[in-house]
Amino acid sequence: STPPTVSVRGKTFTTDPWYNVPSNVLASTARQLHLEKDHPVSITRQIIESVFPRPTFKSHNTFHPVVSTYENFDSLGFPADHPGRARSDTYYINASTLLRTHTSAHEAQLFRASESDGYLITADVYRRDEVDRTHYPVFHQMEGARVWDRNTVPGGDIAAAVYADLAKLPTHDIKVEDPNPPFHAERNPLQAGHHSAAEAEAIGAHLKRSLELMVVEIFTRARAAAAKADPERATDEPLRVRWVEAYFPFTSPSWELEVYWGGDWLEVLGCGVSKQELFINAGVPSQLGWAFGIGIERIAMLLFQIPDIRLFWSTDERFLSQFRGVSDDLDLLKRFVPFSKYPACYKDVSFWLPSTSSAAGGNTKANAHDWHENDLMEIVRNICGDVVEDVKLVDEFSHPKTGRRSMCYRINYRSLEKTLTNEETNLMHDTVRKALVEKLGVEIR
Ligand code: PHE
Repeated sequence: STPPTVSVRGKTFTTDPWYNVPSNVLASTARQLHLEKDHPVSITRQIIESVFPRPTFKSHNTFHPVVSTYENFDSLGFPADHPGRARSDTYYINASTLLRTHTSAHEAQLFRASESDGYLITADVYRRDEVDRTHYPVFHQMEGARVWDRNTVPGGDIAAAVYADLAKLPTHDIKVEDPNPPFHAERNPLQAGHHSAAEAEAIGAHLKRSLELMVVEIFTRARAAAAKADPERATDEPLRVRWVEAYFPFTSPSWELEVYWGGDWLEVLGCGVSKQELFINAGVPSQLGWAFGIGIERIAMLLFQIPDIRLFWSTDERFLSQFRGVSDDLDLLKRFVPFSKYPACYKDVSFWLPSTSSAAGGNTKANAHDWHENDLMEIVRNICGDVVEDVKLVDEFSHPKTGRRSMCYRINYRSLEKTLTNEETNLMHDTVRKALVEKLGVEIR
């Protein structure tokens, strides 16, 4: 049932039928792991911030998590029918207010304020998502942006000013693969109405070097931590990174940066040349520049070799004590030593989705047409908290005669803190089964 108002970090909001924030997610808005001294999320933030120094870059780490749909989507050029806006993907307080899904929600306000040439925003972000060891409904992102102003650079020559700033950046010795042209007419267009090719190329070059330097800093520290734990496998091979074309509604051209790590190409961040409409709408049409967004937990997991995203939320001393002192001396960083892994216990739940006819009579329960797996994921999280490691679809079929769809999900129960008893697990599983019937209208098989 929806409370009439909710309070988030000291502010009160009025709900409406769009409200879909479960209480565990609401509670996690208070924690702000990125500001907790010696927490791996906070340490990772410090490492990235060290690559983007003051006074060029100014950090903003306390922006409120509740923003308008305008800030989160419209101000960034997301179309009205973008799937990210769906209630199955995003937590809404009411029809026009939500828990931010990314730190880009704050770009426009900073461009408008124009207080510095660069911005860093670290914040908690919220997404309805699957349940597994790398996904959690709350995580942290850092946004970075760098701007130049046509009215203040010498001679109004943006390209020259950007290349001059690029020349001041350090160099590196990593291997960069960048096979695509700086922009591509269809796949990754230049904003021809706003930027000359030389300007876009200059901004792209500055962006790429800046982020390559960030990756060097992160992965040098990750390697040092890995080498401390296992000196025999230490390596001094040059790091490999590659630039891949990407799409975001608020940058063009856009890229993703991938790093070769542990035998795989790993996607590290998204970025691009900011769409000029953002600056125009923010009242600063003479400015232009680049932006990136990076997921902090993902980087922290490989820096510290943390195997499960739920651990970030642990208040267990066996977790927290391993990072003490690192905020004050980043060179103390070492890999996380997992405390004993408690046994897992999986249980399956099989059910028929409600037939479409049952929804015709004005009943509001989900029907087969609007089955959203995230609804099941959320029910499991609400009932079991952090005791579920992952939830996977293991079987799905349609009845040949009736056309009804049957699904079977496997729920893997494993506490990070103790061995679960059979009774506890059975009780949780039974509660999940009942909630699926009650909330989603499925029929258990
Ligand atoms: N906000 C984007 C995301 O969450 C990342 C991004 C930020 C991309 C800035 C481009 C520029 O995926």
